[in-house]
Amino acid sequence: MSRFWSPVVQTLTPYTPGEQPQMQRLVKLNTNESPYGPSPKALAAIDGQNNEGLRLYPDPEGTALKQAIAKLHGLDPKQVFIGNGSDEVLAHVFAGLLKQNKPVHFPDITYSFYPVYCKLFGIDYKVVPLGKEFEINLADYKTPNGGIIFPNPNAPTGRSITRSEIESLLSQNKDSVLVIDEAYVDYGTESCIPLLRGSDCPENLLVVHTLSKSRALAGLRVGFAVGHPALIEGLERVKNSFNSYPLGRLAQAGAIAAIEDQAHLEQSSAKVMQTRSKLVDDLNTLGFETLPSTANFIFTRHPQHAGTKLYQALRDRGIIVRHFKLPRIEEFLRITIGTNEQSGELVAALKEILA
Ligand SMILES: Cc1ncc(COP(=O)(O)O)c(C=O)c1O
Repeated sequence: MSRFWSPVVQTLTPYTPGEQPQMQRLVKLNTNESPYGPSPKALAAIDGQNNEGLRLYPDPEGTALKQAIAKLHGLDPKQVFIGNGSDEVLAHVFAGLLKQNKPVHFPDITYSFYPVYCKLFGIDYKVVPLGKEFEINLADYKTPNGGIIFPNPNAPTGRSITRSEIESLLSQNKDSVLVIDEAYVDYGTESCIPLLRGSDCPENLLVVHTLSKSRALAGLRVGFAVGHPALIEGLERVKNSFNSYPLGRLAQAGAIAAIEDQAHLEQSSAKVMQTRSKLVDDLNTLGFETLPSTANFIFTRHPQHAGTKLYQALRDRGIIVRHFKLPRIEEFLRITIGTNEQSGELVAALKEILA
């Protein structure tokens, strides 16, 4: 604490990211990174920029990256906004689109960065409780709001809704922006990006993606948002009032190559989904109750064993998962899907702990 902190800094409760431990030989299943490497083409493209050209600033607009994203998703480059990780994109979304006269709505159990941005930017928010089975009930969002945001699939639950459900939410919510955070969309969730194609693009739907998960580039820090060109223009105004060069040359080059290598993404996502379904079966055999997941993580609890204890017992065995000390979800563990081998180690450790 310093007397020089501004009043807002004194009130902040910053987001706590999942731990990045320095211990060697641990099974790291706590921050939903990919267990497989990035596209070799992305690594080669990054190497290709590692030269004296780095003395020059990068393209502030990221034109080539926007073109690659637009091409992949069948959009116009004017519909694409890029940022230093989707966390930065989300920050600009809160500041530029969700700070309105009415409160922004999001689920009670969701990505815990959302309320942090609200505090930082002085945005009023209302949490909408998930249903009994941790599902999103669209009818609960039929109230006046200054914007709606949730991840699909939701985090940390892993549960998703369909594109047509999002379409129906959109048709009942015409006076504020609906933001769908599709950080984990590539593991079996229907993306709503197709709704943005062509002249029928809704003026109030924004979809946010990251290259940190299915494209295995969490260390590069690249995320993007797609939507109506007028929404994107608003985000550009915020970005250019904050940092004109959020993505360096290495990040832009690596991201373009990664976006172009769809085959690599599909292969690694398929492996993650296979491992997920085997892990869910194995945990089921051990008596765990797991929510249906279309993400690269699962949310699971054991009726006879406390979440904190399981978390600690795994940690003592060098296996790191995520545990949230929050109402409604204290008994759950969020476990990132790793390799088959890591899953095997996790299941073996849990067997030992339960015994
Ligand atoms: C739902 C959700 N959105 C966004 C992010 C941010 O990802 P990044 O800033 O790495 O793009 C995360 C990261 O865990 C997330 O879980």
